[in-house]
Amino acid sequence: MKIALASDHGGFSLKEEVKRALLAQGHEVVDLGTDSEESVDYPVFAQKCAQAVASGDCGRGILFCGTGIGMCMAANKVKGIRCAVATSDEYARLAAEHNHANILALGGRFTEPADALRYIGIWLTTEWAGGRHGRRVEELDEML
Ligand code: RB5
Repeated sequence: MKIALASDHGGFSLKEEVKRALLAQGHEVVDLGTDSEESVDYPVFAQKCAQAVASGDCGRGILFCGTGIGMCMAANKVKGIRCAVATSDEYARLAAEHNHANILALGGRFTEPADALRYIGIWLTTEWAGGRHGRRVEELDEML
């Protein structure tokens, strides 16, 4: 699956670690920046990643900022995007199973690379439950 990655300066280092690991796992990765720890504005990069996923060019996206929060807020302003912050295995699982999240947001200042990779693995491999969650996700998608 083609996965879009984007970060601001606060998430840059974690993005780089995750990119290396995803490539080693055989994923196709599209890195939409940023390219250094120089300060940038997270909405710009969230929008690039959200558009790559919403357009269908990438199947999933992963966003990285200091906390994951700003990236998540920005990505969810794009129609068709369901972005969730993951801070535990359970959040990663439920983001996939209940919320059908197509973008995961991670906090580079609060997440160890090994934890981030575990959350991503859980999120990528957990199936969406559908059913009652399907109706709620449809309602979400109709809001924009
Ligand atoms: C940048 O300092 C920081 O605000 C940003 O990375 C992010 O955490 C915002 O939600």
